[in-house]
Amino acid sequence: MLISMIGRLHWGDGVTGLAWPVVWTPAFEVGIPIIDEQHRRLVGIANAVSQLTGQGVAFERALEDMMAYTQYHFALEERLMRAASYPGLEAHRREHEALADHVGGLWRRRTVLVQTEVLELLTAWLVNHILTCDQGLRSLAGRPQ
Ligand SMILES: [Fe+2]
Ligand SMILES: [Fe+2]
Repeated sequence: MLISMIGRLHWGDGVTGLAWPVVWTPAFEVGIPIIDEQHRRLVGIANAVSQLTGQGVAFERALEDMMAYTQYHFALEERLMRAASYPGLEAHRREHEALADHVGGLWRRRTVLVQTEVLELLTAWLVNHILTCDQGLRSLAGRPQ
């Protein structure tokens, strides 16, 4: 079910090629230090989830990190885009909204959730959002933040 929901997030051919744990490469970078730092954190969360076998304190903590990341990181990106009158703001914001909805859904089901569901979302996020949508933020690099 989650995969079909993620399908609306431009689930692409490359999504199955992601190996765990994910190794950070320059392809993830957008050239804005605070954004790159937060994306590194997401990769860290994703890798932590990939090492977990299921329920437990560590699993719940990883979900909490995702919740926090979603709120702070998306707000920051949207603030930067708004300040720069970024033309893709609305489409980008809608994609954030969809991702945040999925994260919220996972959080609500956290007691019955399995690792693969979280990894599916994180894979879509890393591959389809950071490696595509967020790359548009490169045009904002060097602006005051
Ligand atoms: Fe991002
Ligand atoms: Fe984004």
